[in-house]
Amino acid sequence: MTIVFHYPRGIGYFANVEDLGTQIELVTNAQPPILQVSALRKSFADNHVLKDMTLDITKGEAVTIIGTSGCGKSLFFKCLQGLIAPDSGTILINGQNLRDLTTKERTDYERHRSVLFQYGGLFDSLKVWENICFLQTNLGDMPNEQAREIAVEKLAIVGLAADVCDLYPSDLSGGMQKRVGFARAIANDPEILFLDEPTAGLDPIMSNEICRFISESVSALGATTISISSDLNTVERISDRVAMLHDGHFVWDGPSDQLYSSGNECVHQFVNKLAVGPIAVGV
Ligand SMILES: Nc1ncnc2c1ncn2[C@@H]1O[C@H](COP(=O)(O)OP(=O)(O)O)[C@@H](O)[C@H]1O
Ligand SMILES: [Mg+2]
Repeated sequence: MTIVFHYPRGIGYFANVEDLGTQIELVTNAQPPILQVSALRKSFADNHVLKDMTLDITKGEAVTIIGTSGCGKSLFFKCLQGLIAPDSGTILINGQNLRDLTTKERTDYERHRSVLFQYGGLFDSLKVWENICFLQTNLGDMPNEQAREIAVEKLAIVGLAADVCDLYPSDLSGGMQKRVGFARAIANDPEILFLDEPTAGLDPIMSNEICRFISESVSALGATTISISSDLNTVERISDRVAMLHDGHFVWDGPSDQLYSSGNECVHQFVNKLAVGPIAVGV
């Protein structure tokens, strides 16, 4: 007799129960973690920013990192993207240590991940379409004509007309720049999408629109999303899971619908915007 259990999460294994003459097969439906971070540390002289960071992210999850300004969120992101080397600890991408990737493997990783930078990060001297397909044209993956077509397609997803293609970033409003930044972030149909403060500085209506583009695009792509946001509406709209960074550690990690009932003092202080609590308020 064979009994098959399907588990949503966890490691699948196979066991024989000889005594019962029964064969039990445990099968997992879950994907292995796409990203595994353990004991990550990074300091700048005596500024110990990331002290011991551990986090696993499963393929397809939408995780948002919250924390006060200056606590190390963007730095953590840069380490995950391979832009800054941590002092110690490991970052595994699909089981491979980021530190040990060959140049070719690193380029492959760049092809499959993308970033929406906190301040847009558009190149002033390039037209919108050149910005959107910068990675693909720079890596020699596609001719300009095809890149332009993809730019038009991605602009439509963020609600911008095709003629925006030939404008320069300085011709665009802040909200349009953010949309173009997001169009660039999805231009390579990424497997992992890093979004650093995707709605910072936007009015509430534009913030909602960006959240809608994010949710729709992420479901269409089946991408794993790792975001940073200080805007609680954004956090709730774009995340399945939230991790709070404080004093160099993740002090809480849980479903986004438990953000207001986490039982964690730091999260409680943060989401309720309290001056008093374990987080020192700088002046
Ligand atoms: N390249 C760097 N050199 C020196 N200090 C840095 C560097 N990058 C980040 N830091 C420091 O790390 C801390 C966290 O910065 P950051 O990750 O940008 O914070 P936030 O949580 O607001 O994104 C700050 O004290 C910042 O000054
Ligand atoms: Mg930041």
